[in-house]
Amino acid sequence: MDLGGRRVVVGVAGGIAAYKAAELVRALVKAGAEVRVVMTEAAQKFVTPLTMQALSQHPVATDTFDLTQEATIGHIQLADRAELLVIAPATADVIARLAHGLANDLLTTVALACRAPLLLAPAMNVNMWRHPATRANLKTLVERGVHTVGPDAGELACGWIGEGRLIEAAQIAEACGALLGPRDWAGRRVVVTAGPTFEPIDPVRFIGNRSTGKMGFAIAARAARRGAEVTLVAGPTSLPTPPGVRRVDVETARQMREATLAAVEGAAMVVMTAAVADYRPSVEAPEKLKKADLGDTPAVALMKNPDILAELKGRAPVVIGFAAETEDVERHAAEKLRQKGCDLIVANDVSEAGSGFGTDTNRVMLLGRDGSVERLPLLNKDEVAERILDRARALLGPAEAVA
Ligand code: CTP
Repeated sequence: MDLGGRRVVVGVAGGIAAYKAAELVRALVKAGAEVRVVMTEAAQKFVTPLTMQALSQHPVATDTFDLTQEATIGHIQLADRAELLVIAPATADVIARLAHGLANDLLTTVALACRAPLLLAPAMNVNMWRHPATRANLKTLVERGVHTVGPDAGELACGWIGEGRLIEAAQIAEACGALLGPRDWAGRRVVVTAGPTFEPIDPVRFIGNRSTGKMGFAIAARAARRGAEVTLVAGPTSLPTPPGVRRVDVETARQMREATLAAVEGAAMVVMTAAVADYRPSVEAPEKLKKADLGDTPAVALMKNPDILAELKGRAPVVIGFAAETEDVERHAAEKLRQKGCDLIVANDVSEAGSGFGTDTNRVMLLGRDGSVERLPLLNKDEVAERILDRARALLGPAEAVA
């Protein structure tokens, strides 16, 4: 397993299995990961921070309110830099606190502030494991997207036999590797556009559309996680910038064109996810328009915006467009692919429930320049992003092709 340079935070809670966390840290460091350890107060009764410090080769974080620790490893920075947070052992108490969103020690504070995937390796007495409270708490966390590995069944440290034993460190490390995923976009630059554009009528009014930017932000986030250097050109949206992504905020189609053309130089791929307004008011009134001057049936004259996607043709090895359709999706999308000269079109039927603007899921088809049509099932937008990146990565060819 190669985790070269991957940033993993290992959280250790207080249970007899805490000593196995030392093995986990060692396995992750051996695989090349940059490991930071956070210990609860109870965990320090079972293993010393010194042990963890020696194994991780970094100071161990134990206290939110310690000024020296905050100066060297601020807890928000710790959370923000992490690509994965793994808690092993995750005790019944920590699971309960996470389920309720508590932040009453450093570990739960880091967990709450962390946007990276969270992996729990539970360990506790079998009756605690089976208790309805623990079951309900875990269910809540899993529904929230938290991952779990283990526990094992067997002889427990407390003398009981049953489920609740911390799974072997090697298996936890493997689960970490699977969650971190490949770094197959390392060394490549990627440009993603997302969100709507707003086309001003006057200083307070504009023409816009219902795009929220979720799909484009998911692609940017996943590409960054897979190692790409990502520039996200974002229209007006309230979404937070994904970790490790350079964001350029724009409002209008013309600003988006400028920012995208500037960023695409030297990029391996550009993905036009943005719902660019096709038209803009031909005149932007310098002052707010007044009803008294407009009458009962005012008209807004429109003019065509530049087609950014068409202009990107040939400017990057892989150019991807999106097609939001409401009928005859495949035919319209194939036409768009040909007209705009892109390498891949991601098409969806925005009239279908669960697809399109504002949803967390999407059912898309991928149309290739070679005439191929790949229909994906209804997936969440993160998974759609991964599938698009897989397809695009294959179009780029082997890693040796990196300039
Ligand atoms: N696009 C663009 N610049 C525009 C308009 C669209 O780059 N001025 C890009 C979008 O980001 C998307 C694709 O082109 O990747 C969508 O094509 P588009 O022609 O906008 O689709 P529709 O507006 O749906 O076209 P039509 O109204 O003809 O169906």
